[in-house]
Amino acid sequence: MVKGIILAGGAGSRLYPLTLVASKQLQPVYDKPMVYYPLTTLIENGVRELCLIATPADLPRFRQLLGDGAAWGLSIEYLAQAKPAGIAQAFLIAASFIGSDPVTLILGDNIFYGADGFKRAFADFQDGASIFGYRVHDPERYGVVEFDSEGRALSIQEKPSQPRSNHAVPGLYLYDNQVVEITKNLRPSERGELEITDVNVAYLRRGQLRVHQLSRGFAWLDAGTSSSLHEASAYVQTIEKRQGIKIGCPEEAAFRRGFMSRDELEKQTAQMPNCEYRDYLHRVLAEAAR
Ligand code: TTP
Repeated sequence: MVKGIILAGGAGSRLYPLTLVASKQLQPVYDKPMVYYPLTTLIENGVRELCLIATPADLPRFRQLLGDGAAWGLSIEYLAQAKPAGIAQAFLIAASFIGSDPVTLILGDNIFYGADGFKRAFADFQDGASIFGYRVHDPERYGVVEFDSEGRALSIQEKPSQPRSNHAVPGLYLYDNQVVEITKNLRPSERGELEITDVNVAYLRRGQLRVHQLSRGFAWLDAGTSSSLHEASAYVQTIEKRQGIKIGCPEEAAFRRGFMSRDELEKQTAQMPNCEYRDYLHRVLAEAAR
């Protein structure tokens, strides 16, 4: 089974002063804490053994928010990243959590929405690495991947000044167990970080990097700046109001995936205060009964 890492550390400096007392991934995106969204994405894709990595200061707050996951049919471990020394450092911090399994890593500030965007990649995954390509107008801000029609990666570059394609790499990655050994052999980049792009380059060199193109109807938002945070909230509000659904609702995802029983969901909603979130889960339960 693929294990999941939610990477929710980092400095969050671009959101100062919001991040003075609580990290970026605890901030609200419309009606939920940001971390609910990547957590839900992993649940929707069948991941139920999870590890959340955050700064030592924020870790207790995440634990307070999500607990050990048992209520949702998950298991969630918590590990600290002392300093933001790069996204790939997650594989060293979580090496014993990963054990001998494959692993998916999702960034705690990435929000994905769309029908089954990652479904095939998870279903087809056997070995090597699977990453995604998402068309953006400003690829130079991201890792940029060039790939052929078969999904074979041709090149991958971190924040290139002259991007070779318009395809940015979103913050969800799937790796076989080689990722731990690959990361152990990485050197920090000029900015002093263990770079996820270098992990992907290592797989590319082994001829084991596969790229799945995300369709144009799929939404990928990151919420790292004040305006992208606001835009993400506005997006979620627009879809939720229009469709009468919720994006990023872990209880719903766990229930639909069969990780959590109806009785359990009923028990949990009974403990929630009178709020829109509870009303929504009541509707989910009522509709599932039909
Ligand atoms: P970034 O947005 O690149 O960095 P940041 O969150 O520290 O924010 P800022 O640039 O404003 O200071 O990080 C992307 C995601 O990866 C984010 O969810 C935080 C996480 N991250 C870590 O958890 N540890 C790390 O060492 C790094 C570099 C990022």
